[in-house]
Amino acid sequence: MSDLDFDLDAPELPRSIKKGAITSGGYPYAAGMEKEEYEAALYQLHLQLALLQKHEIATGQRTVIVFEGRDAAGKGGAIATYVEHLNPRLTYHVALPKPSDRERTQWYFQRYVDWLPAAGETALFDRSWYNRAGVEPVMGFCTPEETEKFLAEAPRFEQMLVNDGIKLFKFWLAIGREMQMKRFHDRRHDPLKHWKLSPVDLEALARYDAYSAARTRMIETTHTRHAPWTVIRANDKRRARLNLIRTVLLGLDYEGKDLAAIGAVDPLIALPGPAFLD
Ligand code: ADP
Ligand code: AMP
Ligand code: MLT
Repeated sequence: MSDLDFDLDAPELPRSIKKGAITSGGYPYAAGMEKEEYEAALYQLHLQLALLQKHEIATGQRTVIVFEGRDAAGKGGAIATYVEHLNPRLTYHVALPKPSDRERTQWYFQRYVDWLPAAGETALFDRSWYNRAGVEPVMGFCTPEETEKFLAEAPRFEQMLVNDGIKLFKFWLAIGREMQMKRFHDRRHDPLKHWKLSPVDLEALARYDAYSAARTRMIETTHTRHAPWTVIRANDKRRARLNLIRTVLLGLDYEGKDLAAIGAVDPLIALPGPAFLD
């Protein structure tokens, strides 16, 4: 926690951080989306997701959605929104704890393979095998050699999943530094969010730039034609969730797909990984 320039324990967040949060990291809007607009759009997306699920059950389709991003990017909330009206037996949230001593000795991808979907299922990974490209090297939980090996192998691993017919989506939820600070501060002072604040989170703030470098390298080396990255600018959770769900719906075929109901993806919010890095 070396260069934190505010006190997380102080009840008030400095005004500059509070005010700068929404536009931090190059966010293109000065304010969040209105609740009414969000809820109306989300209702339409939930109806489309219900049709998608019906189609997946009928056809035995399998879907994997990877949610990556810094701590407090909103991965868990985006997943909760996605699954809200779907069958939890078929559409499940995978948030694995740190590897056990036994898992550490296994093939790196092994414990994730365990959670891949069967017919009709969608697995939403809240962090994924990409830990080895981000949190693990940044926090020193793996060696640089292990990360290099992973970066070379991930595209091949994903090629096997896609070749087997799995529909794969990979999202990086991008937030700025002030937004990350604001959300950690909220977590520290809201008893209902306390559980979300971990020692890793606090260290992540101090290592903000190292995370940026790891993210850039990850996207550069693992953005492939068969498994591309979509970056979702996520300072505003509402726009982030709508555009993420739209990206999935537009990427799949299903009976009853209604482009007007889905709405257009906002190109300022959802963009191909390499375009975000430019
Ligand atoms: P989360 O952000 O998922 O709520 P944390 O912020 O506590 O959880 O940890 C971030 C990620 O780092 C998690 O995926 C966790 O499993 C991983 N992690 C934490 N400690 C270790 C460790 N010693 N070795 C490998 N991974 C770890
Ligand atoms: P549960 O909430 O335990 O009923 O599991 C939710 C979904 O996760 C079910 O469809 C399980 O088949 C699936 N699943 C996939 N891999 C595993 C695993 N290793 N352990 C438990 N459930 C798993
Ligand atoms: C998130 O907000 O991105 C996730 O809930 C995980 C976290 O920040 O610890």
